[in-house]
Parts: sequence; C-alpha cells; structure tokens
Amino acid sequence: MQTVSPTFELLRRNCSAMLRRFAKTVEWDLDGRELAMTDCWVNIMPRQVAHGLHLHPLSTLSGTYYVQVPAGSSGIKFEDPRLDRYMAAPPRNAWMTVPAAAGHLVLFESWLRHEVPAHPAAAERVSVSFNYNWF
Ligand SMILES: [Fe+2]
Repeated sequence: MQTVSPTFELLRRNCSAMLRRFAKTVEWDLDGRELAMTDCWVNIMPRQVAHGLHLHPLSTLSGTYYVQVPAGSSGIKFEDPRLDRYMAAPPRNAWMTVPAAAGHLVLFESWLRHEVPAHPAAAERVSVSFNYNWF
C-alpha cells in the first residue's frame, strides 16, 4: 500500500525515525543498510474478531499503528519467546499485553509470536500493520 497510496507513504516516512531508534535500542548491526518497508496492510476488526497467534516469517521488524481504538479494545499480546527453555521452572505468565491506543505505534521483532484477542466493542478497531526487511 505504501507504494500506491500517499497516505501510507506518509506513515512509512513518519515511522523512519522510530525504526532507527528501535534498531539502535536492540543493538542491530545493519551493516550500513537501511530497513525497508516491504508490505503494509489495514486491519479492521469488528466485534468478536480475533487475530490468532502468529509471527511474520521472512521479515525483520514488524509494527502496528493504531488508527481507531474504541474503549475496551483488545491490546496486542506477545508470547514469551523463552517458553521452550523453562523446563522445570514453576508456571508463570507467558504473555505481555501492550494496550492499543489511537495514534500509538508498536514495533517488535518479526520472530516474536503475537495475537490479538477477540475485539469486544461494537465499534471497529482499526490499525495499519507493516513489515520491514534489511536485506
Ligand atoms: Fe502480526
């Protein structure tokens, strides 16, 4: 969408500084290359629609920009990536939820599994998601 729509191209441009800051925070060595947006799409979630557990294969960085978030909307839930290392550890909460808020941007490494629980509100939850690669 970012290649055919000025609106989504503006989103891409406005995310650039945040992406650089994210890459620095996680100490990526990009070997002088830029992160490039490869795909971008709109998510419209009516009541009771969920987005099942998944990751974004073949991408480096993923994110979501929240456009419309009715009161009570589900956040995005990230699964603890250490689950297969716990072995004999006592049970613990394996999830971290980042609340959805209109105008907020959430960035995460694409290998991190995540989901959005069923949307409980009558009004639609609207967001724009995207992937970036560095190769
Ligand atoms: Fe996703």
